[in-house]
Amino acid sequence: MSRRTPLAQLAKRIRARTARVGIIGLGYVGLPLAVEFAKEGFSVTGIDLDVHRVQGVNRGRSYILDVASEDLRTLRRRRRLQATSSFEVLGRQDAIIICVPTPLRKTREPDMSYILSATDQIARRVRQGQLIVLESTTYPGTTDEVILPALSARGFTVGKDFCLAFSPERIDPGNATYTTRTIPKVIGGITPRCTELATALYGTAIHRTVPVSCSKVAEMVKLLENTFRAVNIGLVNEITLICDRLGIDVWEVIDAAKTKPFGFMPFYPGPGIGGHCIPSDPMYLAWKVRVHGFEARFIELATHINGAMPAYVVDKVAAVLNQDRKPLNRARILLLGLAYKKDVGDLRDSPAFDVARILEERGAVVTYHDPFVPSTQLHGHEQRSVALTRPVLERSDCVVLLTNHSQVDYDLVLRHASAIVDTRNQYGALGKRSTRIVKL
Ligand SMILES: NC(=O)c1ccc[n+]([C@@H]2O[C@H](COP(=O)([O-])OP(=O)(O)OC[C@H]3O[C@@H](n4cnc5c(N)ncnc54)[C@H](O)[C@@H]3O)[C@@H](O)[C@H]2O)c1
Repeated sequence: MSRRTPLAQLAKRIRARTARVGIIGLGYVGLPLAVEFAKEGFSVTGIDLDVHRVQGVNRGRSYILDVASEDLRTLRRRRRLQATSSFEVLGRQDAIIICVPTPLRKTREPDMSYILSATDQIARRVRQGQLIVLESTTYPGTTDEVILPALSARGFTVGKDFCLAFSPERIDPGNATYTTRTIPKVIGGITPRCTELATALYGTAIHRTVPVSCSKVAEMVKLLENTFRAVNIGLVNEITLICDRLGIDVWEVIDAAKTKPFGFMPFYPGPGIGGHCIPSDPMYLAWKVRVHGFEARFIELATHINGAMPAYVVDKVAAVLNQDRKPLNRARILLLGLAYKKDVGDLRDSPAFDVARILEERGAVVTYHDPFVPSTQLHGHEQRSVALTRPVLERSDCVVLLTNHSQVDYDLVLRHASAIVDTRNQYGALGKRSTRIVKL
């Protein structure tokens, strides 16, 4: 290929780190990615509709746990990173990476509006020599059936004039061991040239790239990974219900089972699944195959079992109160941990809200403590996180441990709570000996 073609120029600019990288959506996925490319010397522009996030980046104030404000300030000083709410900058970017949300609609169908709107903004300004990559999790076929036609409408040919690829983000917010930089990056382009150029770009900032044959494979990789998690959590939640019936401690079973050095991987029960990914991503796949007349039965079953866990937790609360001859109606229940997982403040789709709703429907008075969530709407009213003190614990009829954040004083809870429903096995073997603690 001639050195003068627009894509050859792009390859050269990537190698020299002179390519300009635009990232649409500066959230849990987009901001850490922007920081990694900026650290490699690229000039990175983040585009986000949220003006507070744009200001945060431009003033060197991080709003994402995994990104240090100090890093933002350094990159701002070096003029490597800037943010804007204007899409006009898109035409000047050599590479554009889309990191916008992909939630579910109330009908449990994919909400593609964010991807469509970002694509529309790019399509108005696409030019020769650009590389566009979609990172948002979505159903197989999105990149070539939805984005490609919109970009090709300007008369450009993919793989020749511009490049298009899908590369799923696999970040686990709050995980200090595996980060944007160290998690291998799967990349699938519409054409081999698209894969090659996207791999060249990511290879500058990410330790290991994993090229695959096409964008559909890359899209499916992400859905396999998250469906695998959702289904296995569903399985272990069902095993928990089975163990409950048989009077067996499921946590002891899992601990012993995981000593098998092959063929078993531990998953743990809990109050349900949450976050932007695990509850939603498998539904993107289920929706897509439903269109093809196929029912994704594992996905539907896991969704059903995981979705029933909050009610099971409430039954456990009722049972422990019953031991003290107390009804759930008017009982004071303190929820410990509202975020969907440990050591983050992310409330998206957290099962804690279902637990709170069911408790309140059954007449309980619900308060919460979460060091990462100063205030939130609980069952229609604004609440503040209560301080975790002896009087607060003694006043509560039951503490429901939903998320086991590291910084909580669990000994204090143990000393002063009259009853604890421990959905995370925080108290381990103690939970078996104490009649005040009920495990899942
Ligand atoms: N959060 C995770 O742990 C995680 C992990 C892997 C993959 N993902 C996937 O990555 C994608 C992004 O997730 P996230 O957690 O970063 O979301 P997020 O909500 O934290 O961030 C998305 C950002 O996009 C902005 N935005 C929305 N529409 C926009 C538009 N049209 N133009 C510009 N900005 C726009 C929002 O204001 C927000 O700041 C989703 O598809 C998600 O499934 C998320």
